[in-house]
Amino acid sequence: MDERFERYVTELFAAEDPILSKIRARHAAENLPAINVSPEEGKLLYVLLHAIQAKRVLEIGALGGYSGVWLARALPPGGELTTIEKDPKHAKVAQEAFDMAKLHGRVRLVAGAALDVLPTLTPGFDAVFIDADKEPLPKYFDWGMKLLRRGGLLLCDNAFFHGAAIDPNDRSPNALGVRAFNELAAHDRRLVATIIPVRDGLVVGVKIRESA
Ligand SMILES: C[S@@+](CC[C@H](N)C(=O)[O-])C[C@H]1O[C@@H](n2cnc3c(N)ncnc32)[C@H](O)[C@@H]1O
Repeated sequence: MDERFERYVTELFAAEDPILSKIRARHAAENLPAINVSPEEGKLLYVLLHAIQAKRVLEIGALGGYSGVWLARALPPGGELTTIEKDPKHAKVAQEAFDMAKLHGRVRLVAGAALDVLPTLTPGFDAVFIDADKEPLPKYFDWGMKLLRRGGLLLCDNAFFHGAAIDPNDRSPNALGVRAFNELAAHDRRLVATIIPVRDGLVVGVKIRESA
């Protein structure tokens, strides 16, 4: 998107409060990579969760907690975000972010590798947001579909993967993972889905049936 439109959306719809700004500033101070969602993507996730009145949400890839705060803030009292993070330093910074945002009781941070943690979770999530390593994306697709309730949202960041999604010559494991995920999202009969071209692309799908 043209940067001017992006700025317009951010300023009008997704202005950060001091807590979100502080969380982003801490990413830099703690030398975390600047790969968190942007404010307008955060707001999009927030709107989507409100649209389905989400109560139980799963995130794969917490980093420093920036997207997690947007997600958890969309939940009603009694709602819970479960977020999985394998890097202990990222997990520590994320936990501090959730404390700073006073989201006690609304966020459960699970430290560990996603493929170890996912089989331990109880199905019935209202939304699953995937934003971690790219090679295992087809496995995350399968887990997302298993863990979502019917009517739930499957969300996945970096659908364009900086252009690799449309470059068949890029045979890197990450590019293959992204393309495989997008193809599953497009063709799996349990899902209706598309890509919203915000930043690096966000897959948005609704699970419409339990079996294909
Ligand atoms: C793009 S960042 C997440 C950004 C975060 N969702 C945000 O917008 O604020 C990806 C995160 O996934 C974590 N990660 C990568 N592979 C993982 C895995 N297999 N299991 C759990 N977390 C993983 C990385 O350590 C990193 O913190």
